[in-house]
Amino acid sequence: MKKPLNIGMIGYGFMGRAHSNAYRKVNNFFDLNHQIVLKAACARDAAKVKAFADNWGYESVETDWRQLIERKDIDVIDICTPNNTHKEIATAAAYAGKMVLCEKPLSMDGPEGKKMVEAIEKAGVPNMVWYNYRRVPAVTLAKQLIDQGRLGRVFHYRAKFLQDWTINPELPQGGAGLWRLDVAAAGSGVTGDLLAHCIDTALWLNGPIDSVCAMTETFVKERKHTQTGKVEKVGIDDACAFLCRFSNGSLATFESTRYARGHKALYTFEINGENASIFWDLHDLHRLQYFDHRDEGIVRGWRSIHVSDGDHPYMGKWWVPGLQIGYEHSFVHQVADFVAGVEKGQPAMPDFRDALRTQFVLDAILQSASEGRWVTVAKE
Ligand SMILES: NC(=O)c1ccc[n+]([C@@H]2O[C@H](COP(=O)([O-])OP(=O)(O)OC[C@H]3O[C@@H](n4cnc5c(N)ncnc54)[C@H](O)[C@@H]3O)[C@@H](O)[C@H]2O)c1
Repeated sequence: MKKPLNIGMIGYGFMGRAHSNAYRKVNNFFDLNHQIVLKAACARDAAKVKAFADNWGYESVETDWRQLIERKDIDVIDICTPNNTHKEIATAAAYAGKMVLCEKPLSMDGPEGKKMVEAIEKAGVPNMVWYNYRRVPAVTLAKQLIDQGRLGRVFHYRAKFLQDWTINPELPQGGAGLWRLDVAAAGSGVTGDLLAHCIDTALWLNGPIDSVCAMTETFVKERKHTQTGKVEKVGIDDACAFLCRFSNGSLATFESTRYARGHKALYTFEINGENASIFWDLHDLHRLQYFDHRDEGIVRGWRSIHVSDGDHPYMGKWWVPGLQIGYEHSFVHQVADFVAGVEKGQPAMPDFRDALRTQFVLDAILQSASEGRWVTVAKE
């Protein structure tokens, strides 16, 4: 008989759906001692949250997250709300002794994130931040190849995350679906939204970043605010590019924008080492491109590894070799690793403290862009 693990989900938007899907699937594919139970969904609109709960199979609903946190029958609070709500909900949930899963970015900035880490560590509750790209099997395979030392000394890291959905100047800012354009809700623009993913992956694959030199731009400077009805200044960065130096001596370039016409979610990274290189592209997420200079010369070239065999990360849990999986499975893997970590007493990463490191890089980027100079990244 499995032990129930009761989920209290806050927010029914994009991530509310992605996480709910993961909770529903995980016990069917992964061997865990706990049975995930969709206990309660919470959001402010009673009718909408009821419809969401009915669709995904939640047993009950709440319209105030404080009520949800007070409930004795909830084990895990999952925060799928805009960035400016993460701290208040996460610290209250930790105080109430709940396990806390928080969407990325952890916080609005480093100092706020630090307080969240203090609260969660004081409470001693299991915690995790949803940097899900680590658990795309091809990205996990990249980590394995790097840890095996196949690349040798790393010279370069190159990442980008390109979108094109905010080019229209008539698009308003604020409110449902558009909170990402409102600095009060989002904290920053592409830096905290998209580069946060690139940085989390980079820190995981290539180690700490020492210093950054960034530039940002806000192409559309004013937009109507959906909540006030007034045209207001846009406070987020629409685009950001930065150079950085990693502690291992490698040099890097990162770029993100919502103004790259034709690109919807083009997240790519490339790593060049003395012996081998790796390239990954979210639009072709089940493939890992790998070049090894030690191959025999006449057959040397970029290999396109279809990461779908039974011995590839996570793939033995799914279908038969050769059949690929997709974006949503990265969330299933993250839930599976979180629960397995709780069971084994070996926390799944990134936890709050690990995700705070990304927050410090984000702070340094924004400071560098505003001051026009290189900035050293805070460590703790
Ligand atoms: N891991 C990823 O790849 C990924 C992808 C998208 C978003 N995110 C993160 O997930 C979070 C949510 O993003 P989203 O795309 O799901 O947003 P969304 O706009 O689709 O959904 C946000 C939800 O939060 C609810 N909400 C807002 N304020 C609330 C409050 N005070 N109390 C209760 N509910 C409230 C809204 O009603 C809505 O249901 C953000 O932090 C975002 O950065 C992560």
